[in-house]
Amino acid sequence: MSSSLIFKDPSKLSPRYVPRILPHREKQMSLLQSIFRSVLEDPQQGYMRVCQLIGPVGTGKTSTALRFGRIVEEEAERRGFRVKHVYLNCKLEGARRFVLYRSMLNKVASGIATRSLSPEEMLNRLIQYLEENDEYVLITVDEIGYFLTSSKEHLVYDLTRLNELTLGRPSRVLGLIFIDRSLAFHEMLEESEKSTLGRIIIDFPRYTSEQIKDILRFRVEEAFNPGRVDEEVLTYVSDVTAMPPINGDLRVGLDLLLYAGILAEREGYSSVLLDHVRRVHGDTNPRITSEDILYMDPDERLILWGLIRALRLKKAAYVSLKDIRLEYSVICEERGVKPVEEIEGYIQDLINRGIVEMKSLTEFGVAGVSTEDLERFLDMIVEKLKRGVDEFKEETGCMG
Ligand SMILES: Nc1ncnc2c1ncn2[C@@H]1O[C@H](COP(=O)(O)OP(=O)(O)OP(=O)(O)O)[C@@H](O)[C@H]1O
Ligand SMILES: [Mg+2]
Repeated sequence: MSSSLIFKDPSKLSPRYVPRILPHREKQMSLLQSIFRSVLEDPQQGYMRVCQLIGPVGTGKTSTALRFGRIVEEEAERRGFRVKHVYLNCKLEGARRFVLYRSMLNKVASGIATRSLSPEEMLNRLIQYLEENDEYVLITVDEIGYFLTSSKEHLVYDLTRLNELTLGRPSRVLGLIFIDRSLAFHEMLEESEKSTLGRIIIDFPRYTSEQIKDILRFRVEEAFNPGRVDEEVLTYVSDVTAMPPINGDLRVGLDLLLYAGILAEREGYSSVLLDHVRRVHGDTNPRITSEDILYMDPDERLILWGLIRALRLKKAAYVSLKDIRLEYSVICEERGVKPVEEIEGYIQDLINRGIVEMKSLTEFGVAGVSTEDLERFLDMIVEKLKRGVDEFKEETGCMG
């Protein structure tokens, strides 16, 4: 880490990192605090709070919820009781109650057996565990719209009624936070769900270019050695991030800084130049961020890699499923991984996420990339995929 001329700690630009301070989200944070103040003062008296964090892509909703969850846990500890923040992401973990509840149980009470339990039984088990151990939870459900478009199950119904499992006793669930990009998901709810969901909505507006600059300045200080990213570069990255087509998605700004830094380092420069950012910007498809790749299912990631290799080999903007399958199996062999039997489902998911484009039944490409840009763009994605795969390896390595 310290051997790098450019970076102090590039992991501070990673999607996994949640900064302690989130500039320009003070208002949202203090709203959350005021909603939960009385339950934190006395969890025995409080009823379950339900709120929604709504705003466009990359406006800090997930980060704010995660930071707030930590604050609640710490505040409870200071006051002498235990709260766990359970963060569920429907897009990353799967749009099935079974999977989400199992994950919730594991996060609250690791080691508890969930094998033969139905979703309802898992919720009962959760509440029972919390009562027996005198603990509370705060539950965040991120990407709720994704769940509702993919499943007919009544997740909102279940969760907003969790306090009824302890009628007459204190609710073990202090609060529910639902997150999505817009309120469109309300249309997929039943009337009764809508009413239990309530109307407490915290708005996350798009960041302006000036706000983005403040935020990125903080992140640059954490990630880069002093003086490696000057004001001009920071302004350029902030403007690009604020303008269409990126429209304020901070992830893209962070990615631009990371990859411009890597490029500068690789070419032996002692600071990041405007030219590095411009070149990376030209190559980066904002639709595929490092975060997409980092959290992608490992098989899916290798299948995407297969697609990209096939595109490069054929020097074409589209290839067939057969081509993808072939390259994918070569990659699996190289890496000593067992290939999945059916790649169609994974490809469909990549299409749903807007990463892969299907032009016809036999033509698959990467969404939003023109043929001219393909070569440079694919290099950038391969770089990201490699980083994603390596981070993943480290992770599984730790888990033993
Ligand atoms: N105010 C902020 N200060 C520092 N970093 C921020 C801030 N807002 C967002 N970020 C960073 O930008 C990235 C995107 O933020 P986040 O994931 O919270 O967005 P989101 O609103 O959940 O987006 P989406 O709807 O796409 O899930 C994260 O890496 C996060 O660390
Ligand atoms: Mg999010």
